[in-house]
Amino acid sequence: EKQRIVVFGSIVQDLVSYTDRFPRPGESVRGNTFKSGSGGKGANQAVAAARLGANVAMIGMVGEDMFGDSNIKDLKENGVDTNCIGRTNKTHTATALITVNKEAENCIVVTLGANMEMSPKIAEINSSIIENSKIVMCQGEIDEKANRKAFEIARKNGVTTFLNPAPGDANMDKSILDLVDVICTNENEAEFITGIPQNNVEDAEKAARAMVEMGPKYAIITLGSKGKITFLKILFHFNLRCTFASKGVENIDHIEVKKVEAIDTTGAGDCFCGSLAAHLVAGHSMSSSIRSAANIASLSVTRHGTQSSYWKIDEIRQKYPEFLP
Ligand code: RIB
Ligand code: NA
Repeated sequence: EKQRIVVFGSIVQDLVSYTDRFPRPGESVRGNTFKSGSGGKGANQAVAAARLGANVAMIGMVGEDMFGDSNIKDLKENGVDTNCIGRTNKTHTATALITVNKEAENCIVVTLGANMEMSPKIAEINSSIIENSKIVMCQGEIDEKANRKAFEIARKNGVTTFLNPAPGDANMDKSILDLVDVICTNENEAEFITGIPQNNVEDAEKAARAMVEMGPKYAIITLGSKGKITFLKILFHFNLRCTFASKGVENIDHIEVKKVEAIDTTGAGDCFCGSLAAHLVAGHSMSSSIRSAANIASLSVTRHGTQSSYWKIDEIRQKYPEFLP
C-alpha cells in the first residue's frame, strides 16, 4: 500500500457567481453564470492530492444536509477515504459565497458551520489514522487548537506535519509553528506570521527565512502577481536548520512557472498544497515537487471552480508531461 496523506481540515460547499465586477456596499450586480461545487481548503487539498494518484484520507465534519451528502460523495468519487468524516445535526455544512470578477479575482464569505465542531477531541478520536500516515495536512479553516492536537499526535509518531495557515489571520497563535515541518503560505499569510510587509521577492525571502527560524524545516511562499494572476511565482527556503545553524548560510530558491490565462484562481493555493504533498509522499525532492505543484496549480486557474478545476494525473501526463516531477 502507498503511504498515506491525511488531511485534517475543512469541508465547504462553494456557491460561486461569476460577475463583471464586485458589488459595492449596498449595490446589487448581476451574475453572468453560477456554479455550485464541493470545496473547503481541507477537502480541496485532499482532492488535489488524490487526483495525482496519492492515497488520501480526510478527517472533517459536515452537517446532516444535502451539502454534506454531496461533499462526501465528491470526495469519495475522487478516491479520498471518507470514513473519518463526521456528521452533526447541530449545525449546517459550511458554505462559501464566492464572487469571481472578470479579472479572475475572488471575494469569499465562508460560514464555517460544522467545521467549527472540529476539536482536539476529534483529533484524538482519529489518532490512529494520523499516526499511521506519512503526512498530516492542516489549514486555517478550523479551530487552531484542533490543528495543534493533530500535529502533536503526528509529531509523537514521526509523521510529517504540513501547515497551510489559510485564510490568513493576524491573530493566529504562532506557537503552532514549533510543531510544523512544512509551512506553505501566500504573501498575506507570510506577513501575518512574520510581521514583515510583503511587497517584493526580497521581502518574501526575508519572510521565508524568518519562518524557518520559527520552527518549520521548509517554508514556502507562493507569490501571485497583484490583480490579474497570470502566473504563480513560488519562493521557498529550504532549510536545513542544522546547515543554517552551523554555517549561517541560507539557500533560497525561486521557482517561476509559465504564464497562464486565469479565469478563476479560487482554490489554486489548495491545489498547490495538495499537489506538493502528493509528490513529497511519492518520494520526490522538495524542489522538483514544488516546481511541479506550481505548474499543476497554474493549470487549475484555467478552469472554473475549486476541486472541479483540478487536473487529474492522466490528463497532465497526456498534455503536459513536463509538469510532472
Ligand atoms: O481556498 C479556497 C476555498 O476557500 C474555497 O473552496 C472555499 O470553500 C473557501 O473556504
Ligand atoms: Na480554478
